[in-house]
Amino acid sequence: MRLNRRSAVKRLVAMVGASPLVGAGQTQTAPESPAGEALFEPACVMDFEPLAKAKLDQLAYDYLAGGSEDEVSLRDNRAAFERIILRPRTLVDVHKIDLSTELFGQKLEYPILLDPAGGKNCLYPDGENVVARAAAAPTMRAFVKQLEDQGCSGICFTLDIMYVSHRDRNIHNKFDRAWGETGIPKRDSQGRLPHPRNPERAGIYPSRPFPTPTWETVRELRSLTKLPIVLKGILTAEDAQLCLENGVSGIIVSNHGGRQLDHVGATIEALPEVVEAVKGRIPVLIDGGFRRGTDILKALALGAKAICIARPYLHGLAAFGQPGVERVVELLRTELALDMGLAGVPNLAAIDRRLVRIRGERT
Ligand SMILES: Cc1cc2nc3c(=O)[nH]c(=O)nc-3n(C[C@H](O)[C@H](O)[C@H](O)COP(=O)(O)O)c2cc1C
Repeated sequence: MRLNRRSAVKRLVAMVGASPLVGAGQTQTAPESPAGEALFEPACVMDFEPLAKAKLDQLAYDYLAGGSEDEVSLRDNRAAFERIILRPRTLVDVHKIDLSTELFGQKLEYPILLDPAGGKNCLYPDGENVVARAAAAPTMRAFVKQLEDQGCSGICFTLDIMYVSHRDRNIHNKFDRAWGETGIPKRDSQGRLPHPRNPERAGIYPSRPFPTPTWETVRELRSLTKLPIVLKGILTAEDAQLCLENGVSGIIVSNHGGRQLDHVGATIEALPEVVEAVKGRIPVLIDGGFRRGTDILKALALGAKAICIARPYLHGLAAFGQPGVERVVELLRTELALDMGLAGVPNLAAIDRRLVRIRGERT
């Protein structure tokens, strides 16, 4: 896939060929004021959340913000960052900060990528993109061929959604799976959401009518393509080891943003055991609760190659459309560069485990 220089967003679009990301990274100039002024008012990515909330109805907001069951994993993802303390170095020449890195043979300007996220039509008119339709491909072989023909430079396979979890907020809101093919309501051209067609079914999810994927599926996928295969949703050393044994090209440590199995802990807590198991043989990425440059710095110090975000860019999308997505990435990238300068690490190669300590533990 030909990629323009500007955005890591596009690179991830390429990487997660099967995910509904395409379009998020198309270059676009900032909007005229007053929308333009509003776009540049948020000081950090978290400021986009209330702006998105103001534009969304309760149903769409809860779909975006919510987690599963008691939302413990959702909260843990953020809370765990506070237990990790940075150990900045001084008198390092930081007059130039270089955020670039390399992933699957492609140079990234910065180690921030956009996660796959379904349901963008429910957040913004026409927010979804064509790639989601690929998921309906009849066989894995045909699907892989379709991705290759589209010029995708990798395949991201999400492992943690073999069932849709119990999401209280969606049940209260009658966010019903009968709404459409994908189970996600779609806004019309005026930005209106349809009424649920079958509200009494809310919360009743069907069981899978066919066997769910296994490691055999990964081996089959491996045999079908030379594209990098990234497995998303790994949380243990055991599964990381199986990734290595089955020819996987990269891992995303993820708990689906706390939206699937609850009580699995924060992803930043799972990262060290996955990194330890992988021993640098394949890149380990991570998502879940990344909202600050310092969050990213901590993950890089613990061995992540890059981080991914979902809700922050979805907030940007809901509040401002595409320029909002770009602004969110820009804010995070700027914060990371500044934090690297303050921590005495001028480039990613200078970041290692010594940059952090865990609160209460000896270094
Ligand atoms: C609204 C929404 C929809 C999502 N849809 C998908 C999806 O279709 N496929 C997938 O692999 N992950 C999906 N995710 C999970 C994200 O890819 C990601 O793992 C997680 O949200 C990252 O945490 P963060 O939102 O705190 O950044 C979704 C997340 C949200 C918030």
